[in-house]
Amino acid sequence: MTDVHPREALALPELGAMKRAGTKIVMVTAYDHPSARLASEAGVDLILVGDSAGNNVLGYDTTVPVSMDEAVMLTGAVARAKPRALVIGDMPFGSFQASDADAVANAVRLVKAGADAVKLEGAGPMLSRARAIVGAGIPVMGHLGLTPQSATKLGGMKAQGRTAATAHQLLADARELETAGCFALVLESVPARVAVHVSEALTIPTIGIGAGPGCDGQVLVWHDLLGLTEGPTPRFVKRYADLAGEIRRGLHAFAADVRSGAYPADEHVYKIPAEELHAFEEEIAQERPA
Ligand code: KIV
Repeated sequence: MTDVHPREALALPELGAMKRAGTKIVMVTAYDHPSARLASEAGVDLILVGDSAGNNVLGYDTTVPVSMDEAVMLTGAVARAKPRALVIGDMPFGSFQASDADAVANAVRLVKAGADAVKLEGAGPMLSRARAIVGAGIPVMGHLGLTPQSATKLGGMKAQGRTAATAHQLLADARELETAGCFALVLESVPARVAVHVSEALTIPTIGIGAGPGCDGQVLVWHDLLGLTEGPTPRFVKRYADLAGEIRRGLHAFAADVRSGAYPADEHVYKIPAEELHAFEEEIAQERPA
């Protein structure tokens, strides 16, 4: 059967070509269909259905409680927008830590929901997970630096790689993730100079979040960049819109119109032909008890 709405997606190898050409890669998170459509229309290259959905849309305090079922549901909603941007499904905590077999099975679930690739946090024992998923034919994006799923172990939501030893370990882990077959690597909350060295050492693109301008691309969380996050945000966040303010203005105006009777107005109501209305009113008048 032919697809009536075929998708024209970015080809994965384009990302390597962009790095080589010095063209910055743009990634945003998105967790639903309209956001994915808007992101794609804006020309972003990659949409990450991040486990940051935990804090941003599901009401959890951290990303840790996000389940595979939730990740699958959100990934499906994003993928059904058929964006030109590649859709990356984030593997939630608990979906890949236990075994390579679990990791592959859960990556397959995200791909069946519509993801083009998956992302997982960490190196060390997780290298084997990355290798297994790549071996199953699914592209993998790595994630180093501040890996929020391990925030407790890392001592909180803090920048990583700020000593020579930890920066060295970060570089070694990045190299190993590249060798494991990852097609790109997120560097989160890493000193800018360290991120430059990591980016120069790899042939795969680095996508920075709080890792300075030397990365091959940048990612921000939807709610942070569009002003839906209220309260303090990390220092690397730049706000490009005030959606919370816009939404508040719209909701106040709606409530005021409903209360004043200004909404709905004549142009918002459906009409019935006069003779039908007349017949209807006659009928109900006759049904009324005498
Ligand atoms: O879940 C997420 O949004 C992420 C980004 C911060 C890279 O992992």
